[in-house]
Amino acid sequence: MKTFENWALHFKTNRPYIHWKENYVLTEKERRAITKAIQVFQKGESSEARSLLAKADNFSKQRNDKSYAEALHHFVKEENRHSEELGKWMDMHQIPRLKSHWEDSIFRILRKPGGLEVSVSVLLTAEIMASSFYHALLYGTRSGVLKQICTNILIDEEQHILFQSQGLAQFYSERSAWKRECIHVLRALLLLGATQLVWFSHRSVFKSGGYSYSRFMQESFQIFAKSMHQIEWMCERKKTRLSVLLTENNRTA
Ligand SMILES: [Fe+2]
Ligand SMILES: [Fe+2]
Repeated sequence: MKTFENWALHFKTNRPYIHWKENYVLTEKERRAITKAIQVFQKGESSEARSLLAKADNFSKQRNDKSYAEALHHFVKEENRHSEELGKWMDMHQIPRLKSHWEDSIFRILRKPGGLEVSVSVLLTAEIMASSFYHALLYGTRSGVLKQICTNILIDEEQHILFQSQGLAQFYSERSAWKRECIHVLRALLLLGATQLVWFSHRSVFKSGGYSYSRFMQESFQIFAKSMHQIEWMCERKKTRLSVLLTENNRTA
């Protein structure tokens, strides 16, 4: 398991290579299937996440440990790099960049109220669906450059899910078992709502990438379950380390 200092370093130094040269011309069918979705995701990845980062800075001050906030700052820059890469590809293929979109606004509005834990939960929900989206886009296009971008982003997104799960584990480890169960149910409901929105808005790109509705739902909830297992494992690990430290302290006292 990485420390948050390691995560910051990972995000700071992660610069996957892309060979930008391409003569491929999108077919009309392909353009119709992917344009709207890629515009919305490109916009979503461009967020500066000001309210999330302000909450993270506050959290770090309270705990006198800036490592998590620093890692989140670098994580946001990595998401912005994804946006830049998608934007550059869209420019090459004359797909206009969006200034705003209601779907992106919904996720931003959901992230604002509540504390850092709520914001990270909403973010993790978006990351889970992003994984399926970039898989669909990877198989739904014949553009070599877009395939490279999607492959790189998919590798990054897998790490993002692990990073966000580790971030949430900090909060979960301070909750009682029943509170954790309640949060689990609320997060599952949030994912259920978000998957409906994403599927019905972008089903053309999912279908062109070989996804059916049931495959999309199954995959989203599998990633969710894996993330929950990671969170629980990290909480247990933290508790075990704490009890070992306490036992050692008692012995030396
Ligand atoms: Fe991303
Ligand atoms: Fe991400």
